[in-house]
Parts: sequence; structure tokens; C-alpha cells
Amino acid sequence: MQKRRTARIPGFYRLPLGERLESLVAAGWLTEDEARSISGPAAGGFDMEIANAMSENVIGVHALPLGICLNLLINGKERVAPMVVEEPSVVAAASNAARLTREGGGFTVETTGSVMAAQIQVKGLAEPTAAAQLIQAEAPSLLEAVNALIPNMVNRGGGAREIETRVIPLPSQPEARMLCVHVHVDCRDAMGANTLNTVAEGLAPRVQEIAGGEIGLRILTNYADRRLVRVSCRLPPESLRTKKWPDGGLVRDHIVDASRFAEADTYRAVTHNKGFMNGLDAVLVATGQDWRAAEAAAHAYASRTGAYGPLATWRKDREGFLEGEAELPLAVGTVGGAARAHPGVRLSLRLGRIEDAADLASLAASVGLASNLAALRALATDGIQRGHMALHARTVAIEAGATGDLIHRVSTTLRSEGCFRLERAKEILKKLPED
Ligand code: MEV
Repeated sequence: MQKRRTARIPGFYRLPLGERLESLVAAGWLTEDEARSISGPAAGGFDMEIANAMSENVIGVHALPLGICLNLLINGKERVAPMVVEEPSVVAAASNAARLTREGGGFTVETTGSVMAAQIQVKGLAEPTAAAQLIQAEAPSLLEAVNALIPNMVNRGGGAREIETRVIPLPSQPEARMLCVHVHVDCRDAMGANTLNTVAEGLAPRVQEIAGGEIGLRILTNYADRRLVRVSCRLPPESLRTKKWPDGGLVRDHIVDASRFAEADTYRAVTHNKGFMNGLDAVLVATGQDWRAAEAAAHAYASRTGAYGPLATWRKDREGFLEGEAELPLAVGTVGGAARAHPGVRLSLRLGRIEDAADLASLAASVGLASNLAALRALATDGIQRGHMALHARTVAIEAGATGDLIHRVSTTLRSEGCFRLERAKEILKKLPED
């Protein structure tokens, strides 16, 4: 019988690199072949020919570390998340916060479906409202025309869902309003950009025939406000204690204060959201997603009330638990795009046992909330520099030439001296073999 996979691997971060992979193989997350393919000389298995086909003017392959967020319990299921990020502390912090959330049952996530919109702009209309009515009257035939453009999507259960018309005043010339036709399409497990752009360009001539005027832009909107993910978690105050902060209730209250600070101040909200996106983006990069689209949509959503605010907020609930929740648009795909071409992306999708696009959004949003919690807990207690400097010391040690066990020995000395200069690391390293 197959062993039940667990996302808890205590002491994982202390294991040497090879043993970490072995423990993931032993826990059933990776096969031995997969473990080999992401370590060793051909790490990532990323062929130059594939790279060349994915972009332009390709001259090489630029690698980043692939880490793993452990300890996730999402909708009652044990999960791990692949994370690609260049910033130290992000993976450790998310794993640590995910461990804390287990004490309150982990993360609860839901998604609102996979409908996205293509925009067709119509300019130069004398009567845009009347043109909108004409378009609405033709909506059934337009929906049919859309489905004819994307038969594969229709076969997969997706396709056209709604024709929306919006009359938009131009701020500079209020009398010159334009019409914007939104074609809502269910993109199922695709991110949808290609499908929506096909729809926008393919349907535009028919729209012009009906509405008149002049066709302007024809492109998807990345503001995927019908493709939302909602994630929440609840933690008992005891789980928030640190060595120096034994009163978990106080830590909880400071986290709530930090949330209110972000709710009141854009300068703080941007940094608060950056911490959230640290985790979310790392999962998106590992799984080959268009993280620029996700970023653009998330920040627009954070401003939906007219003022920029935090994506995740934290409160004390009736039982004194810390409760956190976040909601944001998240357009991701598990078919097409990099998922098809990039072997590292395919491996990450498998490692995370990602079932479909909604599942990927759930995983990424949970890691986002974990990252935000980790940042607020650190900021509300010891500050983030202590943890950061520990990792920074490791980076300096490696830069000085330390390898294997020497990395730990050099970085420990740097930390105890409170000095993180490269020259000092080199001096320490030179002396060490003689010890
Ligand atoms: C650093 O990458 C992220 C933080 O600045 C987030 C925050 O301040 O909440 C620590």
C-alpha cells in the first residue's frame, strides 16, 4: 500500500542537499528520477533548444533556486509547494508560518471559477449607448461566433459565457464616450491569454458590423475579477509565541495592529502586499505562470475601493484566535504555455500534486497568506533582520568560496561577530582548515 504523503518533514532545512531530496523521495513527493533531474549537472533538465523556442535572442539559461514550502494543510489535505525565488528567507518563512497554521486546521481556500474577459474597443461612435443595445440584442449569435473560434476550449467544457457592454467616458473629453465589449469566456485549466486574444481579434469585425464606429484595441484584460481565489486561516494565540515573545496573545494583537496599519496607509500596504506576493509569485514562477499578469491584477484589486489596501487582513476572532483572509484575482493555467514546454515546470506541477488551475491558484494563495503571516509575525516581534542576516551570512560565506560544512562554520562566525563583509568571510575561511 502506498504510504500517506505528509507535508511535515521536521528538520528538513538542516539536512544536506542530497538528503533533502532523499527525504522527499522517501515521503513519496518525488521519484528517484525526478530527484536526479533537479539536482546534478543538468539541473532542471532545461535544454537550450527548448529555451530557444520559448523566447527570442536566446543566449543561455538563467537558473534560480527551486525550494519547497513544506507543512501546508489546505482544505484538509497535506500539500507541498514548489517555490522559485532569489530572495533569502522567503521559503523558510512560508514553511514556518504554514506549520503554525496547522494548529488551527491549516488553510481553507475556494475559487470562483475560471471565467476571463476579452476586450474589444469601439471608438468614434456618435451613440455608444445605442450601439451597446444593438450588441446586446445580438448577444446569442455573438456567443455562438465566439465558440466557433475556440472549438478546443468548448470541447474541454469551456467557452463563451456572456457578452457585456460598457460605455466608457474619456476623462479628457467627457462628450467622446467609447464602447467596450467584454466577451466573458470560461478558460477552464488554461490561463486563457491565447484563447481570449483569439476571441478579441476574431470577433472584432462582427462587432463593428453591428455597432459601427472604428475598432480599437482587441486584447484580453488581465483584471480577472471573475477568477478570484479566497484563502483564510485561523491560529490559536499560543502558536504565535516566540522565544523572546512568550505571550502569543500579545503577538496576535501586534499582528492585528500591523494589518490595521496597512489598511490605513498606502505606503505600508504596498510593503505588506509585497510580502504576500513573495510567496505567491515564487509558486507562480516555479509553475511557469505569467506572474506579471498576476501582479497587475492583484494590485488593481487591492485598489478596488478607490484606495490601495492590503490583500490580506488579520483580526482576532471571538475565541481569541488570529484569523487571516485574502481575496484576489488569480489567472493561472496548468495546460498550454510553459506547462507544455518546460520540463522544470512540469516537474513542479507534479511535485505540488497540482490537479488543475483552481488547485494551483489555491496552493499559490495559501503560500501567499503564509508569507504574509510570517512577515507580520517577525515584524510584530523580533523584526526581520535577525533571520535575514543569518541567511545573508550564508550567502557571503558562499561568495567567499566556502563549500559544504564550511558554509555553516564561516556563516556562524560572521553572525557571532556581527560582521558580514566579504573580506572578513575570506579571512575566516582561510583560517578554518587549520583549526
Ligand atoms: C520582504 O521581502 C517582505 C517584507 O517587507 C514584507 C512586510 O513588510 O510585510 C518583510
